Amino acid sequence: GINVSKLLSTTELVTLDPGFVNTAACSSEICYIDGDAGILRYRGYPIEQLAEKSSFIEVSYLLIYGELPNQAQLDEFASKISRHTLLHEDLKRFFDGFPRDAHPMPVLSSAVSALSTFYQDSLLPFDQEQVEISTIRLLAKLPTIAAYAYKKSVGQPFLYPDNSLGLVENFLRMTFGFPAEPYAMDPDLVRALDLLFILHADHEQNCSTSTVRLVGSSEANLFASISAGINALFGPLHGGANSAVLDMLEGIRNSGGDVGAFVRKVKNREDGVKLMGFGHRVYKNYDPRAAIIKKTADDILGRLGSDDSLLDIAKQLEEHALADDYFVERKLYPNVDFYTGLIYRAMGFPTKFFTVLFALGRLPGWIAHWREMMNDPATKIGRPRQVYIGATERDYLSLDKR
Ligand code: ACO
Repeated sequence: GINVSKLLSTTELVTLDPGFVNTAACSSEICYIDGDAGILRYRGYPIEQLAEKSSFIEVSYLLIYGELPNQAQLDEFASKISRHTLLHEDLKRFFDGFPRDAHPMPVLSSAVSALSTFYQDSLLPFDQEQVEISTIRLLAKLPTIAAYAYKKSVGQPFLYPDNSLGLVENFLRMTFGFPAEPYAMDPDLVRALDLLFILHADHEQNCSTSTVRLVGSSEANLFASISAGINALFGPLHGGANSAVLDMLEGIRNSGGDVGAFVRKVKNREDGVKLMGFGHRVYKNYDPRAAIIKKTADDILGRLGSDDSLLDIAKQLEEHALADDYFVERKLYPNVDFYTGLIYRAMGFPTKFFTVLFALGRLPGWIAHWREMMNDPATKIGRPRQVYIGATERDYLSLDKR
């Protein structure tokens, strides 16, 4: 409804592109997506190969430093991370202030924001040494913060990290273990969570990564920028979709399991209902991450001994949608989060916690983009333009005349 002539001022031409559907804000070497062909590569490596052969820690190194590490580089990186997993005791007390039923995402973003107060050296975003230590601190401490948010929500005592363990193992133990009790590590669970983290590790200029870049473009430090990214991820159209999918599947099951009726409701746009976990701004064919997850979902769910009724509903939903013109015409396919919620649930995580797991996976991507941007001489402060459609000039009316 906007008159195009309004876009043209005498001095400049402004492009109106709500949601940045066609506008690139930067150039980047980190992640390649071909949405039509269903291709995703990190630093040139196909996601399928990384999912099969790599590990989350190695992928984190790859995204941040640009190359796969050799053994010595990987060992040094892992050992540096394991030396920074502890939270400052004062930061630990921070958790006491939140209500017991607090959603873990704002707890996570608040604690990350607070890191700037504990590590004031982080306020020098162009000092390479400080950026490096902030990177390691974030990678090391976010799993501890996430585990503490979980422990707080279930009213259990916090567990200090055990730095003889790897990043994913440590996180699982701090989350599900108890003090003074050995934690029985399940290698299937470790591998499954590691794989999910790899699949979430980067996705070029998505909403949260763009947020990290936009905030960082003002030369805000790494912690402030990542904290903003976590808040962007919280929304149900982005990272919050993994929780929303599970709520949707449970809703369908609890109202009798009629998948066809639910799909009709989506098509008729009743109550604004969407098929959560479907659709993607870039993938208009199939999300390659969803394809990998679907292949492993049966296997993982079988081994973790989960209740299959929700997986059945998910599969029926996918079948219905893929055979339905509404979804075919709009090129709506399952995205990465259509099946992840079921896996997280089988692992024992509460629904509210799913988006935290997404944040843990996406962290190396956010860091890589922030660092790339800060080192790019082409970077300018992010400052979109607008097309003003409000009132033209009018005279102020005094209160008695309104
Ligand atoms: N269910 C039903 N209809 C949908 C869905 C859906 N999940 N997604 C898109 N559509 C419809 C839209 O209503 C629109 O129809 P119309 O042209 O008749 O009006 C058409 O498909 C195009 O959709 P847009 O909203 O223009 O697509 P956009 O690229 O803006 O949105 C998004 C992408 C936000 C992912 C959207 O598909 C959606 O809301 N999906 C559900 C939430 C979700 O799963 N988010 C996770 C995304 S992946 C991630 O962050 C990991």
